[in-house]
Amino acid sequence: MTSAADLPLEDRARLLTGADFWTTAPAPGVPSIVLTDGPHGVRRQVGASDHLGLNAAAPATCFPPAVAVGSSWNPDLARRIGAAVAAEARALGVAVVLGPGVNIKRHPLCGRNFEYYSEDPLLAGTLGAAAVQGLQSAGAGASVKHFALNNQETERMRISVDADPRTVREIYLPAFETIVREAAPATVMCSYNRIDGVHASENPWLLTTVLRDEWGFEGLVVSDWGAVHDPVAAVRAGLDLEMPHGPHSAGKVVAAVRAGALDEAVVTRAAQRVIDLTRWAPSDDEPAPDLDAHHALAREAAAECAVLLRNENAALPLGGASGSIAVIGELARAPRYQGGGSSHINATRVDVPLDEIAARGADLGVAVEFAAGYGLGDAGDGEILRSEAVAAAARSGVTVVFAGLTESEESEGFDRPDLAIAPQQVELIRAVASAAPRTVVVLVGGGVVELEAWHDEVDAILEAFLLGQGGGAAVADLLFGMAEPSGRLAETIPHRLEETPAFGNFPGELGTVRYGEGLLVGYRWYTTRGIAPRYPFGHGLGYTDFAVDDLAVRATGPDAATATVRVTNTGSRAGSHVVQLYIGGGPGPVLRPRRSLAAFRKVALDPGASMTVSIDLPRRAFAFWDEPRGAWVTAPGTYKVEVGRSSADIDAAAEIPLDGDTIVDALDMESTIAEWAAHPVAGEDFRTALAGAAGGMPVDQLLELAGSMPLGKALDMLPGPAGDEARARLEAAVAAR
Ligand code: BGC
Repeated sequence: MTSAADLPLEDRARLLTGADFWTTAPAPGVPSIVLTDGPHGVRRQVGASDHLGLNAAAPATCFPPAVAVGSSWNPDLARRIGAAVAAEARALGVAVVLGPGVNIKRHPLCGRNFEYYSEDPLLAGTLGAAAVQGLQSAGAGASVKHFALNNQETERMRISVDADPRTVREIYLPAFETIVREAAPATVMCSYNRIDGVHASENPWLLTTVLRDEWGFEGLVVSDWGAVHDPVAAVRAGLDLEMPHGPHSAGKVVAAVRAGALDEAVVTRAAQRVIDLTRWAPSDDEPAPDLDAHHALAREAAAECAVLLRNENAALPLGGASGSIAVIGELARAPRYQGGGSSHINATRVDVPLDEIAARGADLGVAVEFAAGYGLGDAGDGEILRSEAVAAAARSGVTVVFAGLTESEESEGFDRPDLAIAPQQVELIRAVASAAPRTVVVLVGGGVVELEAWHDEVDAILEAFLLGQGGGAAVADLLFGMAEPSGRLAETIPHRLEETPAFGNFPGELGTVRYGEGLLVGYRWYTTRGIAPRYPFGHGLGYTDFAVDDLAVRATGPDAATATVRVTNTGSRAGSHVVQLYIGGGPGPVLRPRRSLAAFRKVALDPGASMTVSIDLPRRAFAFWDEPRGAWVTAPGTYKVEVGRSSADIDAAAEIPLDGDTIVDALDMESTIAEWAAHPVAGEDFRTALAGAAGGMPVDQLLELAGSMPLGKALDMLPGPAGDEARARLEAAVAAR
């Protein structure tokens, strides 16, 4: 393969910006390759190109988007979907698939939450790493995006994020870090936004110090489409490939090198990375993917992603005994199964929930009738549609209402203004619920919505999010119990906007968004503040039940542990349970969220079966980011490990003492008296000296009074001869340490 060093500077610079919308520039001996969206399918545009999902793309399987896969809590599923997407990508001539997106769901209104996995970094990182492994194992390069702190769509190309360093390290970077370290993605895509005023595309701290120097990333950094403002600053910061084509970029890079403003070696290195990336190029005769098998996988995956939020009076599963079924809601007939924007897939086929329910009903000999209930957009007369629906509900044994967000209400490019669904849908649900013997609501949408106006009036709620092209069949399977609900919420459902963590700090003002909630994102906020949301992170019901007991935790080193716990399926159906391990609080000099997810495992069990699960709790589960040290630190002390079925429903807890890190700080006259007294090496001598100088006051009391004083300041302030003597003693202790 050509080496960048052998190419003239002009050719090297030319490699650093795309040839057009989706392809890299060729150079002598270097082919051009295609990078395209993703990530829940391949969006290979064959005609006009755009990054907003406007123009048509070749047909491809539309798998469940990340919002759904996040709720599966199943990395293996993410891996299998990744491999299937890669096979289709190669067959469509694509080398790199632009995904997965692993930004944290900081706020429920983010218009792109459907493209992200979770509000929790461990869950997002684990699923993202699996997706990358799946993609790359089957021959397509991945592009983990959007790096970093891109948590809203409002002003996404200009907004500057102001977040404290510990929050950045503990919440917003770990998913990327896990993926880089564990899955070695071919590329990382930098985001549009600024961080502390500096665009991510031109941010040397982000793209070089953290990504390469600390995490050891060896792949290529590509810009989000149009994220580069100053191509020279971008290359200098560590960006390798600007996408799409920047007409003046190569010329500017060459000029900067010639003027001595840009190190030529940096250009050569970036060009080499573009050359290295071409190894992902598919061949001209890739096998045709098995689209039937992929559709079956899309359907299987969808069934594992939906979350059963509520199931009163055993309203679900439906069966012969449910009586006739009324299916209500235009969204049952015109399903939404993916979000809008750059990830929009041209599905190979789409299962329609209404048809699937009707088919299951027919098999069981149960009558199924349909009423639209509401129109999408301005379509239909709301009152007439509603009264038809109410009449259908009144004469049926059970009513299934499909409601949720329509396509115009959420997309890449803008954030939602509120958590509401359309008022006519709310009215419909209430009217139907008061007429129907039993009401089941199937919620559709890429973001969570407010349920309060009707929650208590319905018997069951299936949160179906956006489930991809097999979602219709999967929902029918779940409703009839042919599939077992096993999704768990990867994000909190609040009662109302006002209780959400970033309320008042979203989407920012005057060009800056301040992450004022700090670490307390998602369930970390609700658990720490003692606020019960409508449905907590981790929640999800099934048709069977599980007992969880025998939690035991043992240390496996100074800063790590292993937990074992027994899970038993106590119900009468096979099903899956997600073991969720949380660290509660923790010792150390920093605020710890009341609960942080430390590890999880999804287990499938037959009725009556039991299994003891052993899960490692690695160092990082206990550590905090110590900004002054620029390092992860595990504080010595006792940690609480909790096993729960959600972040608010804990089955058992155990305590584990850990030695943690021994930190020996250099002491000086700026160190406080308390720091001196607590020092593992000098502390004892110092306390003896302090006792001598304390004039009879117990040392602990003195420490309480004056512990926060820098030693130098304290010595300066000691009065008279007694002071001189004390000073001499303390200085001797200092000198002797
Ligand atoms: C999106 C990326 C996407 C790119 C290419 C951008 O607008 O933010 O996620 O990969 O377009 O379509």
